[in-house]
Amino acid sequence: MKDLRQDYIKGELIEDNISHDPFTQFRRWFTDALNSKILEPNVMILSSIDGYKPDSRIVLLKDLRKDEFVFFTNYNSHKGQQLKNNPNCSLLFPWVELERQVIVRGKATIISSEESENYFKSRPITSQIGAWASSQSRPIKSRLDLDNQLKEAEQNFKSNPLNRPPHWGGFAVAPYQIEFWQGRPNRLHDRILFTLENKSWAVSRLQP
Ligand SMILES: Cc1cc2nc3c(=O)[nH]c(=O)nc-3n(C[C@H](O)[C@H](O)[C@H](O)COP(=O)(O)O)c2cc1C
Repeated sequence: MKDLRQDYIKGELIEDNISHDPFTQFRRWFTDALNSKILEPNVMILSSIDGYKPDSRIVLLKDLRKDEFVFFTNYNSHKGQQLKNNPNCSLLFPWVELERQVIVRGKATIISSEESENYFKSRPITSQIGAWASSQSRPIKSRLDLDNQLKEAEQNFKSNPLNRPPHWGGFAVAPYQIEFWQGRPNRLHDRILFTLENKSWAVSRLQP
């Protein structure tokens, strides 16, 4: 590991070239990530707080609204419970192949059931059934038990309509800070931080 060393040379982040709206800037970088054909450009590491303890895991960005980042999950999962108790969270986009990361800090709220419904219906049937078959984050005795839960759910939906489980849906994260990080040579990276102040975005540069 000590010998793994990479110089970052792919780009720069200069105040003159960035948008004054961090969502516009995010969309530009997201488009770059899409075009670069990296695996799962919408991967983001969601960190939430369990009492005093931090907790992290990957989720997928599924919608970018005017001023919110949306992902879907099980509301009864660890993250679901943590966000309900404490909405403060961060989202980190690790676009390492582009020598970039974006960190979003904000508060998560549950989106409307209508919006969750619409997205649920757009998922493949197998994923819809999967949402019923798994009590996410709960222990289970064996893989066999999980496979049996899936079979039971499949059986059930042969005779019943496949609706969204009430415990499954979206969270929208409204940021108060968004940081854009671009790797530069000699570890002198560019870090541009947007902070929401009186409903407008203040821009500052951080030392690497
Ligand atoms: C590439 C990738 C994408 C994932 N996307 C999601 C997602 O969109 N929603 C989700 O609930 N879990 C997703 N997961 C699984 C989570 O990382 C996690 O294992 C699960 O949500 C349970 O987390 P929790 O116990 O902390 O609540 C994904 C995992 C990976 C590796």
